[in-house]
Formats: sequence, C-alpha cells, structure tokens
Amino acid sequence: MQISTAFALAVLTLCPLAAIAQTTPATNVTQNHVQNSAPPHVAQTTPMGWNSWNFFAGKVSDQDIRNAADQLVATGMKDAGYVYINIDDTWEGDRDANGVLHTNSKFTDMKALADYVHSKGLKLGIYSSPGPKTCAGFEGSLGHEAQDAQLYASWGIDYLKYDLCSFIPDVMMKQAPDDKAAQMHLMIAAYDKMDKALKATGRPIVYSLCQYGWDAVWEWGPSVGANLWRTTGDIQANWNSIYSILNEQAGLAKYAGPGHWNDPDMLEVGNGKLTPAENRTHFSMWAMLAAPLLAGNDLPNMTPEVRAVLTNRDVIAIDQDRLGHEATRAYSEGELDVWTRHLSGGAMAIAVVNAGSDRYLSHPFHLSLAKLGLHGPLKGKDLWTGKEITLTDNMPLELASHDILFVRVASPR
Ligand code: GLA
Repeated sequence: MQISTAFALAVLTLCPLAAIAQTTPATNVTQNHVQNSAPPHVAQTTPMGWNSWNFFAGKVSDQDIRNAADQLVATGMKDAGYVYINIDDTWEGDRDANGVLHTNSKFTDMKALADYVHSKGLKLGIYSSPGPKTCAGFEGSLGHEAQDAQLYASWGIDYLKYDLCSFIPDVMMKQAPDDKAAQMHLMIAAYDKMDKALKATGRPIVYSLCQYGWDAVWEWGPSVGANLWRTTGDIQANWNSIYSILNEQAGLAKYAGPGHWNDPDMLEVGNGKLTPAENRTHFSMWAMLAAPLLAGNDLPNMTPEVRAVLTNRDVIAIDQDRLGHEATRAYSEGELDVWTRHLSGGAMAIAVVNAGSDRYLSHPFHLSLAKLGLHGPLKGKDLWTGKEITLTDNMPLELASHDILFVRVASPR
C-alpha cells in the first residue's frame, strides 16, 4: 500500500472535513470478481471524447459543455470517434433534506444539458468521489452511492469518473489508522459499492476509477466492475510529465483488454506549450497504449494543426483496434524507445520515440528489426506523413527531439 502521507495531507487541506458516514465492511475481492464478471457491455474499445478538467479545471460551466458538444460536431471530432463529453469536478451543489444532490449555479439543469448533448449524438459523463468531498472540495458520494447513481441515470449520464480524494483521510486513515491492508479493503469496497449502484440503475454507464494507480489497481480494477482505471498521478501539459507517464506504462499491457483498460490520464494535446512533435508523440503513444482518448483542450479555439493531430484517423484506428492489445516497449537505446503493438488481422504498429536531442543523418538512430523479432524489408504506412515506408534492418532514422516515427505494418514477418 503506497499512500503517501504528503498526499493525504494535501487532500486534507484541499477537502474540508465533513462527517464520516459508515461504509460497508471490506468485501472479498475474489467473490466480487464472480459477482461482477458479466460480459462487459460498454468500453469494448477505449472511450473517446473530451473532459473539462485539463483546460477549464474549476471554472467549467453548462455553457462550456454545450460549446464542447457543438465543437466536437463542427470540427469533425465526433465523426472521428469522440463521443463522450465528460464534466469533471466542480459541478456539485448541496444535498437537500432528503439527501438528494443538487447542481451548483454553474449547472442549472443537468437533465436539460444531458438532453442537449444527446441531441448531438454524443454522450455525457460526470464526476464524483467515494469520499465525503471531491478533490476540489465539492460534495462527494459517501453514504449516498445508490441515490447518486439513480440521480445520474435519471439525468441520462453515460460515464462516471470516481475519484478517491477525501476517502483517503476521511475514511481509510480514520477507520483503519496504521493498517494498510484494511485501508485497501475499504477502498476496494467503496469502488465495488458504486459499481453495484451503477449496475442497479440498469443504464449502461462507463465506470472509470481514479485513484492515481495506487495498490496495483490494474490487478483488482476488473473485480469491482471498472471499465478503466487511472494508472498514474495527474498529467500535466509538458513533455516531462507525458514521457514519465509513458514509461510507467511499460509492463501493464497484460491487464488491458475489451471492457477493462489502463488509463494513463487524459490528453494534453493542444495545451500548454507542447510542440507539434510533442503533440504527435503524446497522441500516438496514447493510441499505442490503448488509452482512453479524452481530449482536454480548448475546443472552440483549437488550431488546425491540433485538430489534425486529434483527428488523425490512422492513429485513432490503432487506439481503437478491436483486438484490444496494448503496446509493449520492445527495447530502449539511450534516449530512444521502440514500442510495438499487435493489431487485429495480424498487423503491427511500431513506434520509435526520441526523448533526447535531434538525431540527424550524421548520427542517426539505427532501428533493429531483429530486436522486434522481424525481418526486413517490410512495407508499412508512416501514420504521420501518410506515405508508404519500407523498413529495413538497422535502417538509419533521422528523428527530431521528442518526435516519433509511427508505422503500421500490415504483414509483419
Ligand atoms: C484529481 C484527478 C484529476 C481531476 C481533479 C479534480 O486530481 O486526478 O483528474 O479530476 O482531481 O478535482
């Protein structure tokens, strides 16, 4: 159990304490696995859409969500596969005397908003916490799980991101101080409880766990009905954050598959000062990881270049490949990494990422096909130029800093 005291203190500071309601006792994980093992009916490929947090954070409003829905349609993103519009933290108001949660003044009528989003052929996602408060200090679902799930279903919600936040200090650390195993059972039970509450609504709702990748969530996420689980802390719009998250994903491929996915966090494409190469590499590698493609940028002010990245259909097809095999890192040499992903129909995607300085033809990177178990020459498609490329063993590659060579080979051998 890796719960850092520093984080717990940060959560305590962020989340004013509220009364602790009783949680159910820890349940048996193996037993849950049996109970929740019905065939998954959502997220057969990873969810694609847009989430409000990375650009708007606490300022998001009803109008921003409507604008995002309009823009997904107008920019062609919806046609490219982006269907979920996910409202992150800060939509929540207070509970009334019956415990019914109301929206705050930024979201006057959630049902009307859901109807609007649905009228565009899109789906609506929402956010809560198993704790008394969300990470931004708004009302969480503790003690009101079934009531909240029913409320979401009555609004027409299609996706829930459930973020641990204050559950750590207010439940885990209070109910089981100094007992890490008991704390973990409390956490798993809380995620299981909301899964059952969502299923009881009868509405297909994608269930997304957010607990920052602690406690090997990829090992037990499916047992609590999760369709995806965050594998990392929060992403930021800079290369170091993106590249360090990428490296943390190596070794997790075996846990992902249709209906249950690793989530290396939402996209930062188009945010901060990411260069064109960094946007391309970030997007390509999230596709290699079979990650949810949840854009997090300012859609109404998106540049044509960012739009071209987010709507590259060849790259999206890698992400959405129906086999659902996540990429593995085949080898690294200095600051160059080579990843491969097996695709349906026997095809393969190969990504060469340059995390270092520019490599010119005077000192190129030599791609070893032998290390990938392949033999050249191999014809493929360069997914960023759109042109045919022939890969040969030890071929010299010129690759700019933070850029990527991303190739789909139809018949690898
Ligand atoms: C946590 C999550 C973020 C976001 C914020 C909202 O930090 O990891 O993705 O949802 O909470 O408060």
